[in-house]
Amino acid sequence: AGWKKERILGEYPDGKIILVLPDDPKYALKKVEEIREMVDNDLGFQQVETKVPSQTKTFLFISNDRKVAGCLIAEHIQEGYRVIEESVLEGSEGEKVMYERQRAWCCSTVPEPALCGISRIWVFSMMRRRGIASRMIECLRNNFIYGSHLSKDEIAFSDPTPDGKLFATHYCGTSQFLVYNFVSGNRST
Ligand code: ACO
Repeated sequence: AGWKKERILGEYPDGKIILVLPDDPKYALKKVEEIREMVDNDLGFQQVETKVPSQTKTFLFISNDRKVAGCLIAEHIQEGYRVIEESVLEGSEGEKVMYERQRAWCCSTVPEPALCGISRIWVFSMMRRRGIASRMIECLRNNFIYGSHLSKDEIAFSDPTPDGKLFATHYCGTSQFLVYNFVSGNRST
């Protein structure tokens, strides 16, 4: 980092959030490409490619020691599908968390309008649970569409991992958040 014309969206005691756009200089885009590969490796499976790479917006959390500690890649979408809640009724709190982590999610077949897709969201393992992902989404909501603030209902998450699902449930305040790019097996019939 330490780029000449970085677009700083937020400054915090533990770092800053910058935005990288498709028209940015080559060195910035090359760095973003490297980060995306690293994130995909960390996610452990091949993520669905962004639909129009020339329109993706990348939000990076840069820690005070100038390392990339968080990454959010967002794209324009038209619709999302609501996760269908199947509440866990029995078991201890610990058992519920285990179950919540392991189960596959299901979603509705009815599309709902959405504007912004979170293709990938990732935070460096040692820096999780410090609100970095939440702060990146706040910056996304304020800066994805010029001059407007996205509501939580206009955002959808691409095929979420267990961590992604727990995070999205907390951030959206409901387990029935919007998803897109799902594997067909998750789709309810
Ligand atoms: N387990 C339970 N609750 C969680 C978890 C978790 N692993 N992560 C976040 N939450 C909830 C908590 O309620 C948390 O608040 P709290 O810490 O006060 O309890 C709240 O969400 C906010 O969490 P943040 O601190 O803002 O999230 P964080 O910076 O830790 O990043 C993330 C979350 C990005 C999911 C991180 O765990 C991660 O990078 N995981 C590995 C990569 C991954 O799976 N990414 C999601 C892929 S899905 C997609 O990209 C669309």
